[in-house]
Order: sequence, then C-alpha cells, then structure tokens
Amino acid sequence: MTRVSFLAGATGPWSIERIEAIRGETLAQATALARVESEGEIVPAGRAVWTLSGVRSHERYLERAERERLARQQEDLGRPGSRRAALIPIHKRPTWWQLAQDERRELFEGRSRHIAIGSSYLPAIARRLYHSRDLGGPFDFLTWFEFADEDASAFDELVGRLRETEEWRYVDREVDVRLRR
Ligand code: HEM
Repeated sequence: MTRVSFLAGATGPWSIERIEAIRGETLAQATALARVESEGEIVPAGRAVWTLSGVRSHERYLERAERERLARQQEDLGRPGSRRAALIPIHKRPTWWQLAQDERRELFEGRSRHIAIGSSYLPAIARRLYHSRDLGGPFDFLTWFEFADEDASAFDELVGRLRETEEWRYVDREVDVRLRR
C-alpha cells in the first residue's frame, strides 16, 4: 500500500504561501512542505512542525463510466508547468460516517455533483486523494492538487463551488494550505 507523509517545516520542495482554516482548528504555520510517497514506513528526517499521514486507497464512489472518463481527462502530478499546489486536509462529521454507502453516493454525486463539478476543471487541475481516517489521524482525507499559475483562479472557483454543496455541510474541519515551487 502506498503511504504518504506531508512534512511541514523549514525545508522542502514546496514553499508555503499561506495556511488558512476554512472550518475548525488550523495547522501551525511553517515555511516549507514535502510530500513523500513510499511503499514502506516513512521516517521523517529532521524536525517537522507537523506531519500528516495517509494512504492511497481504492475508490468508494466512482461508477465505471465515470472512472473511465476521469482516466481519459486527468493528468498526472509532477507536470513541469505545475508551479502551484494545494494541500487540503478534511474531516467529516460523524453523521456522514453513519450514512449507508448508497446514501453517501447519492449525497456526494447525485445531489452535490462533486465529480461533475470537478471534471469541468480537468485537465488543468491534477489531483490525488489520500485516506487517513483509518490511521487515526486528525483528518479523514488529505487532498492534493497541482496546477499552473494561470489556473490558480480556476482552482479558487472550484473549491468555492464545492464548499457550497450539501456534501460540505458534513465537513467539520478543513484547512487550506497553498504552495508554490
Ligand atoms: C480537480 C477536480 C476534482 C475532481 C475531478 C474530483 C473527483 C473526486 C472523485 C472522483 C472522488 C471520489 C473517489 C472515490 O470514488 O472514492 C473524490 C473524492 C473526494 N474529493 Fe474530489 N475532486 C476534485 C476536486 C476536489 C477538491 C478541490 C477537493 C477539496 C477542496 C476535493 C475533496 C475530495 C474529498 C474530501 C473526497 C473524499 C470524499 C469522501 O470519500 O467522503 N475534491 N473527488
């Protein structure tokens, strides 16, 4: 299983532009961030101000046709033109987790149109979803996005639209970390 650690501190390939609490408690200020993916245990080198860990996991909500469409539209992380990134850790309320799988899918896509909205920002925004709920960390999800300077305002529009959805009423902690390299 691929693990990830986000290490915030004094050094790292991404410099932190700002850390903003959208809902709930913020994360401590730091100047740089590293995203480290590995198949084994990740041992942080040096001192981190904070570390968030997650895993890449299977998809929960995608239907086959949606998965195939996304696979055609999406681009990978690490594009040379992606000078900007965002790390958005998210925690959802217990009421979300008490719903049944079909109710969550209906809320996520049927009513909130998460995939439909997100897809209209492809391929400009490259994304990766990590899960951290089962690791017992402070967040359920660690979401990561990369994009070019000229797509920064489109990304702001995208997060603005998602935050107005019914799905987001179940978000009780969200921190928006913006980065440049
Ligand atoms: C770039 C456009 C985006 C696309 C195409 C997209 C697509 C998706 C898809 C397909 C899933 C479901 C994965 C599964 O089946 O388990 C998902 C989950 C998720 N996305 Fe997005 N997304 C986008 C942007 C965003 C943004 C900007 C945020 C945060 C502000 C976000 C936060 C999440 C979260 C937290 C989940 C997990 C939801 C859950 O399992 O309860 N997404 N996204």
